[in-house]
Amino acid sequence: MSVEPFDAVQVITAKRDGGVVPEDALRWMVDAFTRGYVSDAQMASFAMAVLQRGMERDEIRVMTDAMIASGERMSFAKLGKPTVDKHSTGGVGDKITLPLAPLVASFGVAVPQLSGRGLGHTGGTLDKLESIPGWRAALSNQEMFDQLSDVGAVICAAGSGLAPADKRLYALRDVTGTVEAIPLIASSIMSKKIAEGTDALVLDVKFGSGAFMKDIDRARELAETMVALGTDSGVATTALLTDMSVPLGLAIGNANEVRESVEILAGGGPADVRELTVALAREMLALAGLPDADVEAALDGGQAMDVWNAMIRAQDGDPDAALPVPRETHVVTASSSGVVTRMEALPFGIAAWRLGAGRARAEDLVVHAAGIDLHAKPGDRVEAGQALFTLSADDDARFDRALDALEGAWEIGDAASDVGPLVRERITA
Ligand code: URA
Repeated sequence: MSVEPFDAVQVITAKRDGGVVPEDALRWMVDAFTRGYVSDAQMASFAMAVLQRGMERDEIRVMTDAMIASGERMSFAKLGKPTVDKHSTGGVGDKITLPLAPLVASFGVAVPQLSGRGLGHTGGTLDKLESIPGWRAALSNQEMFDQLSDVGAVICAAGSGLAPADKRLYALRDVTGTVEAIPLIASSIMSKKIAEGTDALVLDVKFGSGAFMKDIDRARELAETMVALGTDSGVATTALLTDMSVPLGLAIGNANEVRESVEILAGGGPADVRELTVALAREMLALAGLPDADVEAALDGGQAMDVWNAMIRAQDGDPDAALPVPRETHVVTASSSGVVTRMEALPFGIAAWRLGAGRARAEDLVVHAAGIDLHAKPGDRVEAGQALFTLSADDDARFDRALDALEGAWEIGDAASDVGPLVRERITA
């Protein structure tokens, strides 16, 4: 029997008492947890100590590195073109990855976008794309490489080989009230992104009611931590802090978000979705050495749409096929005339989830045609009786619970309140 070099209780108590965990002890803790030697109870206790006491920049770097070392590390060095990825901390109506990946790839940059499924009120990119008949999320590493080489953009499921320690730790944090620790969120996100092997990364860190971080100061702290981690690991990283207090765009769901993304790729679509797509594309292309790329021309001229069509076809999807349509709809109208002053992202996200667009457990299936289509946004003038939004579901029994979630979620008043810019800050190393 081999002798373990450290003792989990000592590591836990060192952090509990506000100490800095030495590099070798921290690496051992992550490795021993992955091997099953450190128990779930001990790791959860350590996670709580981190939540309460925090970690120094160097500890976060070691934690990230240890999680990367728990699995495979991909490399796109042989592609012969720069690679750049985007990660969003998630929000309501956030479909930006869909138009963004082909847009950036239309400039000859490779975009390896490993994505996930939705859980809770934030949607998952793979769920949205699976609305497209035939489209396949699971690709082998070789298929991913070939698609990046031929098409330039790939959005697919992250394989189980990337940072398996994070997978176990994240599941544990989820059930022990320790998700919110910034060092743990940062190391969790960045371990997967660094292991993926991208040269550069742009982070869309959201704040506001529909975001993971409600408060801009915490969002900034998370962004700064992740930018430092990426930079220390040789991945050129920048972050935008973006407002997620109002749903993004007019579509919340899956198939309807694909429809809206295609509108953006055709040069149209809601102004906020286009603004964020363009802002993130500029950041990504600047990191890839193309600071002057005319991003708007690639949307308006159809180049980004050409890459979209090729990207969907490469994964067996039919970009021209009809998308699923809902069986039942319910329209909510304005009870008075005036200006929409407020539309809270979180209740709209919860309502879309209750309509079937999201899942409560990882094994649940989503209903691709379920969701919400907004007909007005804050600042718009509406007349009494005018449609404000439409709920869609496969079963009208779902409408009551969705409407419960939306109680008090919007307001019609005399004048629009001042909303700040969508992109609030830019964080660089
Ligand atoms: N997303 C992740 O991948 N990890 C976290 O800890 C939080 C969000």
